[in-house]
Amino acid sequence: MKRQRFTPLDLLKVKEPRDQAVSDAETEASTETFAELEPCLRDRNGQASALIELLNRAQELYGHLSKPLLAHLASELVLPLSSVYGTASFYHLFRFQAPAAHQLVVCTGTACHVKGADRLLAVLEGDGGAGLELSRVRCLGTCGGAPLVVVDGVVWTHQNAASLQQGLGGLPR
Ligand code: FES
Repeated sequence: MKRQRFTPLDLLKVKEPRDQAVSDAETEASTETFAELEPCLRDRNGQASALIELLNRAQELYGHLSKPLLAHLASELVLPLSSVYGTASFYHLFRFQAPAAHQLVVCTGTACHVKGADRLLAVLEGDGGAGLELSRVRCLGTCGGAPLVVVDGVVWTHQNAASLQQGLGGLPR
């Protein structure tokens, strides 16, 4: 499967009448059929009101909402691509780029900050974080484990620069 790289701004450059569905030519530009999404589309009978549910399912299936995937949904729901993108971009949980191999969340809440979250961030923002997707959160409610990092959904408590680097070294890349 050939991957197409684009930014959310690319979507805004697509020419389309505001009140018309995405053009046939645009949807034909993608050879992907998104067959895994068809059962959900059939269940919802192509109803535009199911857009958010379909976006969610599409992201579950494909990891992110690519331009061809958004164009496919727009075509199936007979909606302008701008509406589909506008809805998806409103919710921060929808993503338009393929996820990195590993997702890391660093807690920068008070307890973690006091216990050295900045040193963990320095590791991750340097060479130690290459190829990883980094985000921050303000307190995960488990301050007893500060400072902590969530790695692919698993909480690593009581981290320091050395333990974090060692743990990252054990992740498959
Ligand atoms: S401040 Fe980090 S878990 Fe509360």
